[in-house]
Amino acid sequence: MLELNDKYGRSFKTLRVSLLSTCNLGCIYCTMGSEDEITVDRKPQASASSFLNTIGKLHAQLGLKTIRFTGGEPLLYRELTSVIKGAKKLGIDDLKITSNGFLLERMALELKEAGLRSINISLDAVDGDTFFQMTRRKQLDRTLRGIEEAINAGLEVKINAVIMKGKNDNQVLPLLNYASKMNIPIRFLEVMGMGHLFGKGDQYLFTQQNMLDVIATRYDVIRLPRKPSSTANYWQTNQGGVFGIIANDSEPFCKDCNRLRLDAEGNIYGCLSNNNPIAVSGDEDSIQLKDKLQQAMQQKQSLNFVGSEMSMMHIGG
Ligand code: 5AD
Ligand code: SF4
Repeated sequence: MLELNDKYGRSFKTLRVSLLSTCNLGCIYCTMGSEDEITVDRKPQASASSFLNTIGKLHAQLGLKTIRFTGGEPLLYRELTSVIKGAKKLGIDDLKITSNGFLLERMALELKEAGLRSINISLDAVDGDTFFQMTRRKQLDRTLRGIEEAINAGLEVKINAVIMKGKNDNQVLPLLNYASKMNIPIRFLEVMGMGHLFGKGDQYLFTQQNMLDVIATRYDVIRLPRKPSSTANYWQTNQGGVFGIIANDSEPFCKDCNRLRLDAEGNIYGCLSNNNPIAVSGDEDSIQLKDKLQQAMQQKQSLNFVGSEMSMMHIGG
């Protein structure tokens, strides 16, 4: 097995696979809102067998522990259950998805049965109007029903909420209360300067400290120790609720980032701050693949996330 450790001791143990680059929501930090971007995928999708071929080769080199499927919106990928089952067969047990939850209500159970363990659901507001302003979609209740069904199906469920200054910063406490009521963990994300926000993220940045200040108006909180390779810092409220903050900007976590990314065109990336794709055909011998993984490792930033013109729609967070 390839021991690919860089000077910070980082290795690739988590693979994030973007299954397709389209989505059924139009989140304002992710898209410009043109119909092209936000209409359901009509492009051909890459096959489950091509993903599994590449995943298998990467796993043989890296001994992957976790795969997270993303998009775009991964629930729009037609062969999703086949990819999950196939990854499980390769011996990778920790299988997760990041989804907007819109299609989850009717898919939760079949995903669980295919071998999915955990799902992160993006929810940026619990108020219908704010949800519409954030996602350009009206059906907040669809996402909420998706969350309920995922819990009922026995999946581990977490909520991700991107907080933007002046847009949904009034949702921090309502979201925290909703998550406590549902008894699921929530993570608040500082907005990142990706895609159309490249170089403009600061304008909307609602920092970790801003979020803590809002939460402090209602709760006393204590900080919990950070787990290795965790993207989030965690706190506990005096009512026992746990919440995290993914502070890309205020407290970057590049130093022990163990993530490798694969997009739907078969390119790998070592870092979200780098939009130079490294093409993997799946036909490489192990020396050629090692070389490509080394290049990906070199893309990792030493300290800070610096942003990129590539959209999350393509590379999936
Ligand atoms: N900044 C922060 N988070 C983002 N996401 C998408 N784009 C951005 C951005 N510019 C989040 C989504 C989802 C995950 C895939 O990444 O809300 O939770
Ligand atoms: Fe879709 Fe996720 Fe982008 Fe929102 S952030 S538009 S849910 S891909």
